[in-house]
Amino acid sequence: MPSTTRRTRWQEAGNSGNFGKRFAELVSSGEDIDGEARLADTLLSRGARVLDAGAGMGRVAAALLRRGHDVVAIEPDEALVRQARETYPGLPIEERDILDLGPDDGPFDLVVCVGNVMLYLAENTEREALRAMRTVLTDTGRLLIGFHLQDAPPHARTYTPADFEADLTAAGLRVDLRAGTYQLHPANDTYSVWILSRTQG
Ligand SMILES: C[S@@+](CC[C@H](N)C(=O)[O-])C[C@H]1O[C@@H](n2cnc3c(N)ncnc32)[C@H](O)[C@@H]1O
Repeated sequence: MPSTTRRTRWQEAGNSGNFGKRFAELVSSGEDIDGEARLADTLLSRGARVLDAGAGMGRVAAALLRRGHDVVAIEPDEALVRQARETYPGLPIEERDILDLGPDDGPFDLVVCVGNVMLYLAENTEREALRAMRTVLTDTGRLLIGFHLQDAPPHARTYTPADFEADLTAAGLRVDLRAGTYQLHPANDTYSVWILSRTQG
């Protein structure tokens, strides 16, 4: 079965419309929605290659594009891809699933996968998704991941740090840093920000 036919928890949740509307309001009110992109930017040389995996309506990818990086965004939710194209004309965004990534899509200096994407993948595809994102990294490339540890919204899974660490290890990745926020406050029980890189092999 092609991976794209697997129904994500995001599709099960059916909250694409509410999510898109909330971010449209934040954009038009000038709210700061660039926190994840600011941390991503500090990890990068100027003009680096970045993949935003599960980009939603494109806010993180657009902020990295504004900072001069060579950015590609992928997002399987058709409505959010449409919103991204309308909100950020010129943003390279493709209607695609993380599970369909292969070596020819890379290499990227950084893959950004933030905003609970890991909690909304199709059931039992976490290791496959981590492997797919690893596949498109340069040898020294990194993966920036962020998700809630508590109070998962309906249809999102609960992902403990221990389970996530088992999955990333199985996928050939290691933890370079774990923090509690995108401003690198200490790790806590509420939210987790991870910077990962490839193990050898
Ligand atoms: C809460 S939204 C976050 C969007 C964006 N990263 C942000 O922070 O604004 C979760 C996203 O995960 C995406 N997602 C879930 N499973 C996915 C998969 N297999 N491949 C790519 N994106 C996926 C959903 O389509 C949805 O856009």
